[in-house]
Amino acid sequence: MKNDSKVLLIEDNAGDVRLIREMFRENSRHEAELTIVSTMREAEGHLATRQTDLILLDLGLPDAQGLEAVRLAHEAAPHVPLVVLTGLDDELLAVKALKEGAQDYLVKGDIDSRGLLRSVRYSIERKTAEKALRAESHELHKKEARIRSIAENLPGFLFQCFVDEADCIRFEVIWTPGFEFLDPMRSTSSGTAYSVLESVHPSDRQKLTDAIINARRIGSNWEQTLRLVAPADKELWVHATALMRPGEAGDTVWDGVALDVTDQIAMEMRNAELHVKLRQAEKLEAIGTLAGGVAHELNNLLQPIIMMTELVLANSLQSHRQVELLQRVVDAGNKAAEIVQRILAFGRIDEATLQLLDAATIVGEAVGFISPLLPSSITLNVDIGENVGMILGDKTQLTQVMINLVTNARDAIGAKVGTLSISLSNLGAGCDRPVLRAGVILRGAYAVLKVSDTGTGMDEAVVRRAFEPFFTTKEVGKGTGLGLSVTYGIVTGHGGQIQVDSIPDRGTTFSIYLPIKEVLSTAANPGAASNTASAVNTESSLSAALSARPEFVAPGSRTMHSSSR
Ligand SMILES: Nc1ncnc2c1ncn2[C@@H]1O[C@H](COP(=O)(O)OP(=O)(O)OP(=O)(O)O)[C@@H](O)[C@H]1O
Ligand SMILES: [Mg+2]
Repeated sequence: MKNDSKVLLIEDNAGDVRLIREMFRENSRHEAELTIVSTMREAEGHLATRQTDLILLDLGLPDAQGLEAVRLAHEAAPHVPLVVLTGLDDELLAVKALKEGAQDYLVKGDIDSRGLLRSVRYSIERKTAEKALRAESHELHKKEARIRSIAENLPGFLFQCFVDEADCIRFEVIWTPGFEFLDPMRSTSSGTAYSVLESVHPSDRQKLTDAIINARRIGSNWEQTLRLVAPADKELWVHATALMRPGEAGDTVWDGVALDVTDQIAMEMRNAELHVKLRQAEKLEAIGTLAGGVAHELNNLLQPIIMMTELVLANSLQSHRQVELLQRVVDAGNKAAEIVQRILAFGRIDEATLQLLDAATIVGEAVGFISPLLPSSITLNVDIGENVGMILGDKTQLTQVMINLVTNARDAIGAKVGTLSISLSNLGAGCDRPVLRAGVILRGAYAVLKVSDTGTGMDEAVVRRAFEPFFTTKEVGKGTGLGLSVTYGIVTGHGGQIQVDSIPDRGTTFSIYLPIKEVLSTAANPGAASNTASAVNTESSLSAALSARPEFVAPGSRTMHSSSR
């Protein structure tokens, strides 16, 4: 007890007041400042205005008796310790008084000065300790609430990882609200418990095990980025960081947090994909320049060879054998010239040959003369959307693109039964913001030509090299490996993009995106389509036999239809 503890004695009996004052005085070491009031009313007034360290309360006051007095005094100063003083030695009342908040119960006449002072001191100390405890528990509650709030908003979950002597790994997880769907206990309708480890993607389990066992061996923390599979096949990536501490039962324990990094990983993957595409484009450009240069030189050499040989051939003095040999030179020369022309197409596009073309007409016409060349084992599906739009292009080159893609598709299906699908649609009309579609950034409206087959497909290594000039997987004499490089050159020369999706043994889809210069509207601008169609028709004798929009069933099992979207 502090020497200057302020004690309020509520007592109306003058004899008892004297006695108690004496008792305090007797114990001179603990001189408390004693204030005396004789009614509960006075006491309430005092407690409301003065600091008090302890109340000594008589239970027989003129304005409050028994437990009522305890209750009133406690209400007036709930945090001030209270010691009851009474002449009645009543156990039951004592217990009740303690329940009402009294710290102690002293029977007058039974106590001496030391007993009284001890009780006063202990009561004050107990109350002070209680107060400190209350403050501590309040702080603890606040801290707990903060931790709960952080955990609830955590983009991930908390875990503990245990490894025992036999290298058995066990996880205990504290699920946060956003990640409870991963909880195997929650998600199994049968309620059968299975380890959270089963949520780890099968391909990532070994690397997680290795990391943990290794961390145990060298006594370190561990971190891992891995996939988790939720029951509804939802997949997400988490980055787990775990800090080591010694366990209680001889095992090793890590406390950790696993944060959801799905979006980050997806972005990194997209960047890596774009990076590969960019490197491929740069490589193709370099090869294209080289091939273009070589082709140009070869062309200059080939022309005089062919011309001179033809001149010599024209000379009637040649023997039959000589004519045959010279004809072979001309044929070989022409074949070489044809290849050279294809390589040259890989290079720059000739602006002079560009004209506004109806995308649907070009595709329709090409389909018209390609379809008879396909064996009946191949089903051809054609789906040309209406009002796809006008593109600025070179008709011969764009037809070449169709031929190259269809030939490749046909070769990929081979002698098997398969399906070749050609579709033309419109993408992004009316959208002025660039869009990212399947790794290709597109600005404005595009005509999208898709050529799909159910053929052999390509593995990643072939896809990576498919556009390189002279890359072929075909037998010698079957393919020169120029088809796709020329296609690439033509499409990019038209300001377009080309994309390939292929699954080995399942098939391939080539998607060509060509910028639309004018959207076709048959109602508002009926002349645009027919004008262009007629310009195109005069160029090609084949196209004369075809309508701009093919709507017929080709021979064999091929079906063709146009769609309106
Ligand atoms: N639709 C496809 N399905 C499977 N593989 C394909 C497909 N298209 C192209 N390829 C692969 O890409 C390679 C290169 O194709 P590209 O058209 O450039 O040359 P090619 O067809 O081999 O020869 P060329 O076209 O000069 O006659 C092919 O050899 C083939 O391996
Ligand atoms: Mg080809």
